[in-house]
Amino acid sequence: MDYRQAVRERHSVRDYLDRPIEEDIIANIKDKVNELNKISGLHIQFVTDEAKAFGGLIAHYGAFPGVKNYFVLIGKDDESLEEKCGYYGQKLVLLCQTLGLNTCWVALTYKKVKSAYTIDKGEKLCLVIAVGYGKTQGVAHKTKAPDKISDVKRDDPEWYKMGVEGALLAPTALNQQKFFIQRRGQEVNIKAQKGPYTKVDLGIVKCNFEVMAGEGNFSFIE
Ligand SMILES: Cc1cc2nc3c(=O)[nH]c(=O)nc-3n(C[C@H](O)[C@H](O)[C@H](O)COP(=O)(O)O)c2cc1C
Repeated sequence: MDYRQAVRERHSVRDYLDRPIEEDIIANIKDKVNELNKISGLHIQFVTDEAKAFGGLIAHYGAFPGVKNYFVLIGKDDESLEEKCGYYGQKLVLLCQTLGLNTCWVALTYKKVKSAYTIDKGEKLCLVIAVGYGKTQGVAHKTKAPDKISDVKRDDPEWYKMGVEGALLAPTALNQQKFFIQRRGQEVNIKAQKGPYTKVDLGIVKCNFEVMAGEGNFSFIE
């Protein structure tokens, strides 16, 4: 499965099989985490075989049954943190999808198990992403129309239409899709609107847009 297919086939999964992730796949994911941390300066950690964060034995509201693996998105506590976590976190989500794993971004309904990861001085835990083998592959979310979230027109270049499609397939908090995309030639601007976690959403949307549009076809501008 390539990354474009991963964008199209990814859906949030909240119910997981009790199946451990194979050692070679864990090693592959950890290599990617290291690579992305180097590029971004983030301190993302991949926690495996840890059942407490998602409810353990007691089923309660927001429990994700069976989750024992998750990414913890941590970084320097500055104003770029949320968008960066969205962008680099989504790269990991798409990698997991290509490896046959399922995921779900989780902002609220998890417990902080501080012994499972390290938060250095000046850093902040932004949110987590549940990872594992899902009982299902999830379902496609309801989506806004392309002209409600972008200036896309019928005779626009194919790469732009693909990028907008990628943006609409992106996971967003509460499925809010609160962003707007505009193009001038080969320059693309994506703005977050007001709402909870819209800066994280913006990073996720930029990642999906880039995968579908093809990196060489455009550049993002502020
Ligand atoms: C930043 C962010 C936070 C999220 N937080 C939660 C959460 O706390 N609990 C949950 O069940 N889903 C959460 N989600 C998943 C969204 O509800 C889901 O992505 C959205 O409904 C779209 O569905 P899809 O991911 O299947 O395309 C979150 C998604 C994002 C992007």
